[in-house]
Amino acid sequence: MSERILIGVAWPYANGPLHLGHIAGAYLPADVFARYHRMRGNEVLMVSGSDSHGAPITMRADAEGVPPREVVERFHASFLESWERLGISFDLFTTTMTDNHREVTHDLWRALQAQDYIYESSMKVAYSPDFDRFLPDRYVRGVCPNCQFEDARGDQCDNCGSILDPVDLGNPAYNVDGERHPVEIRDTEHQFLRLSAFRDQLAAWVEEQRHWRPNVRNFTLGFLREGLKDRAITRNLDWGLPVPAEGYEDRRIYVWFEAVIGYLSASVEWAARKGEPDAWRPFWEDSSTRSYYFVGKDNIPFHTIIWPAMLMGQEAYILPYDVPANEFLNLEGRQLSTSRNWAVWVPDYLDRFPPDPLRYHIAANLPETSDADFTWSEYVRRNNDELVATFGNLVHRVLTQVYRNFDKCVPDPGDLGEADRELIGKAEAAMDAAAESLEAVRLREALNVSMGLARNANRYLDAQAPWQQVKTDKAAAGRTLYTAMQVLMALRVTMYPFLPFSAQRLHELLGRDGKIEDLGWRMESSEPGAPLPEPKPLFAKLDDSVADEMLAKLG
Ligand code: MF3
Ligand code: ZN
Repeated sequence: MSERILIGVAWPYANGPLHLGHIAGAYLPADVFARYHRMRGNEVLMVSGSDSHGAPITMRADAEGVPPREVVERFHASFLESWERLGISFDLFTTTMTDNHREVTHDLWRALQAQDYIYESSMKVAYSPDFDRFLPDRYVRGVCPNCQFEDARGDQCDNCGSILDPVDLGNPAYNVDGERHPVEIRDTEHQFLRLSAFRDQLAAWVEEQRHWRPNVRNFTLGFLREGLKDRAITRNLDWGLPVPAEGYEDRRIYVWFEAVIGYLSASVEWAARKGEPDAWRPFWEDSSTRSYYFVGKDNIPFHTIIWPAMLMGQEAYILPYDVPANEFLNLEGRQLSTSRNWAVWVPDYLDRFPPDPLRYHIAANLPETSDADFTWSEYVRRNNDELVATFGNLVHRVLTQVYRNFDKCVPDPGDLGEADRELIGKAEAAMDAAAESLEAVRLREALNVSMGLARNANRYLDAQAPWQQVKTDKAAAGRTLYTAMQVLMALRVTMYPFLPFSAQRLHELLGRDGKIEDLGWRMESSEPGAPLPEPKPLFAKLDDSVADEMLAKLG
């Protein structure tokens, strides 16, 4: 039976190009998961878009002296290009600047307001007398009340992850060009989301989510134990969505309130674009749909508390099924920092290297349970030892021997022996094991299963030695190579979610037509006698000097 899977992926702020932290934290895992489910024959809708409002955008626009829209449009175009080149297969990647997003946001706002979950109250807001302006939370820095970190942002502490308000900060200031401008707190009227009303319902719901990653569930339960405060959902700003309330012309909707609604509005836009305006409904309204939100760990509370509360506050839509948040990816042993250029930028990477080795290295090293570290030397090592020497070499040696010795056609297996049947059994078992890991969003584990199978097949070939068999017993060589080809038939499937470009090429090298994603999660048998194209290596070896060269570009 086909299942319906909604995949929401954190909306990146369109204020700079993508870097590897984004890819490891959310985009690659989401894509692997989406490709797996599509191949399984499930109905998948994977959406996200450029988070277009908020301080990250206006800060960049201010620094460049250009309108915020221009910044968003530039980086949105850059994101679309990166998805294409890296093979991140969104069904729709839109922005929060569309009319549709504004309308869907206003509809949800009104639904919450009708239930009295939105109300007006006054809030203390950071104000800079030196600049005569209200300051977005993120512009204010001070001491975190939770962990005493001295340079916490007014919206969230980078050190302990807690969500903050500028009034919570000790010694708040606005830093401009290295100068501290003290910040004053003023009372202003704002609209509030009655989060406190959802605490018990949220706690009971999270308690039941035993399939969540322990870090996500524990973090959320801990958060709820501290109690939930109502939160202002408007700000004194001029860049953002208009507030659907009288007298709010000088204020805008708070970026986080509307960005999370993007998952819904993007689904609506996807349906409209494909000319089936109701096609989004089952993804949001049918309780058999499973919705997954792929996010980095700093986004957890927005997806396990605030967004679910907003969904609980209306009648129609389903709650998240899972929020498989990832920890952080460090770079060469240090925390990523875009301002210090301690980052690998996706467009730069793709100008120099093919997408699959990066997808492979990141997937093999995903920060699923703890922080992970990207190093160029490991990237080169994995490319050379694992992609080239293990997987690529298996493919190449099998296919070149078949091509040379069996008339460019799939050999006839005759009757399989015990070792052959055992290896084919392992290939079948690997397909099941990989699927089971993928279902549970244990992606690293699924990739390990495939590499384990490739290693087993290499050992089998070494033992059978078809290059010897071919001289003495050609039928035996045919049997061995056919058996090894069956493993390749399985590997093209299990590797596909991780290495979509190479899996497609392998599919073609095995003499199959069409798109591999249409095949389904099945091994399929090669047909003896079917013609094969000339084998070409799937991966290229990298010189060790590449690691030093790339390392030198950091910082
Ligand atoms: N733009 C946010 C960030 O980069 C993520 C927003 S996720 C959304 O941290 F769901 F709110 F869109
Ligand atoms: Zn803190």
